[in-house]
Amino acid sequence: MASTPADRSPDSTLALLREGYRFMGSRCDRYDSDVFQTRLLLRRTICLRGHAAATLFYDQDRFERADALPLRVQRTLTGRGGVQGLDGPAHRDRKAMLMSLMTPTAIRHLGQLFDDEWRARIPVWEGVGPVVLHRELGLMLTRAVCAWAGVPLAEGQVGRRTADLHSMIDSGAAVGPRHWRGLLARRRGERWAGDLVDRTRSGALPAPTGSALRVIADHRDARGRPLPRRIAAVELLNVLRPTVAVDRFVVFAALALHDHPAWRERVCGDDEATELFVQEVRRYYPFFPAAAARVRRSFDWHGHHFPRGRRVLLDLYGTNHHPALWPEPERFRPERFAGRPPDAFAPIPQGGGEHHTGHRCAGEWLTIELMKRAVTNLTSTMRYDVPPQNLAVSLRRMPALPPSGFVVTNVRRTA
Ligand code: HEM
Repeated sequence: MASTPADRSPDSTLALLREGYRFMGSRCDRYDSDVFQTRLLLRRTICLRGHAAATLFYDQDRFERADALPLRVQRTLTGRGGVQGLDGPAHRDRKAMLMSLMTPTAIRHLGQLFDDEWRARIPVWEGVGPVVLHRELGLMLTRAVCAWAGVPLAEGQVGRRTADLHSMIDSGAAVGPRHWRGLLARRRGERWAGDLVDRTRSGALPAPTGSALRVIADHRDARGRPLPRRIAAVELLNVLRPTVAVDRFVVFAALALHDHPAWRERVCGDDEATELFVQEVRRYYPFFPAAAARVRRSFDWHGHHFPRGRRVLLDLYGTNHHPALWPEPERFRPERFAGRPPDAFAPIPQGGGEHHTGHRCAGEWLTIELMKRAVTNLTSTMRYDVPPQNLAVSLRRMPALPPSGFVVTNVRRTA
């Protein structure tokens, strides 16, 4: 029986912080194994990478999610008690509630709201100096997703709410002030979202039928019980926060257009090329490094032992850059998807497996729609210059982003 390679260090948390997205992949390469053991945050952990490992990881008979995510991630990024940590029928029920929001019509509607925001901002950008795209996109997506979700948001509140949603996204893997900002942002965010749920339930807030706020506030579980206020708040934030996080992927799309100008022409008015481009942006650029689960009951797989209760991490970034899956994985080549549409386990920037019954990202189709709209706006609706700035994407910084936030100048409308 093959034994599982193990990190020699008693705890590798500092190495993870130092090495970032490459932590797991570099060890897989070194051990010549897509499975290895280590200790992170003082817990023994099995790390997995690749297509076969992803298929295994999403087998719900073998893995569960309760208590899988580190507490520091729950206290900032995801919140506690939400769909991410549920298993079995409780997960299926909660996931069905969230997936009911993701109809093609609803997705198009949010895409249209985002487009409207974009077109409304161009004249403002035309009249000012440098525009930091990440900052602007955050504000635009906050306005769009709140309108879509039935959440009232006064213009004076947009900056504060966007900053809090950004902090939650930015703080899970951070230590020190960046992490503390995330803790505060989550506390404020849950208070705000809980209040929205209360007011919707009491009838004080007329959230439209079918909106995320209305659906979450009115949801009843299989036993007919409404969600506790705090859990409903966590689920509402599970819709608002990651939609705003799409701003990072849009910044990466802008960076890819800058670094590969030939693709500007190819995506223009071409839906198929835009789709390939967006898929490659999601594969190539780093976002969430890993997904986490725990072994439901002990089993052996390909000679590796998985003891009950052990934390397991699936390397999302490493799987998206696995040399056995992607020829020249470190090259940005959208055409790689031309003869090869994505399958359920590669690429996995937003998790793998099944959307409705598994833990795969509830908002993946929405993300793709928003990114396609963004690429169209960046290439067809406006022109801009990209002045010298720091666009280096550090793989040590999780989540990653070019330090400048992608600055554009001399914006002009073209359509
Ligand atoms: C910015 C782009 C996004 C990225 C990179 C992303 C990534 C992910 C990842 C890696 C997971 C975990 C998969 C797993 O645990 O196996 C996830 C789960 C989830 N995502 Fe996203 N996501 C994005 C956008 C969205 C959007 C737009 C929404 C909703 C509007 C959303 C809602 C969710 C929810 C509710 C879950 C939990 C699903 C479950 O546990 O069943 N995400 N996402």
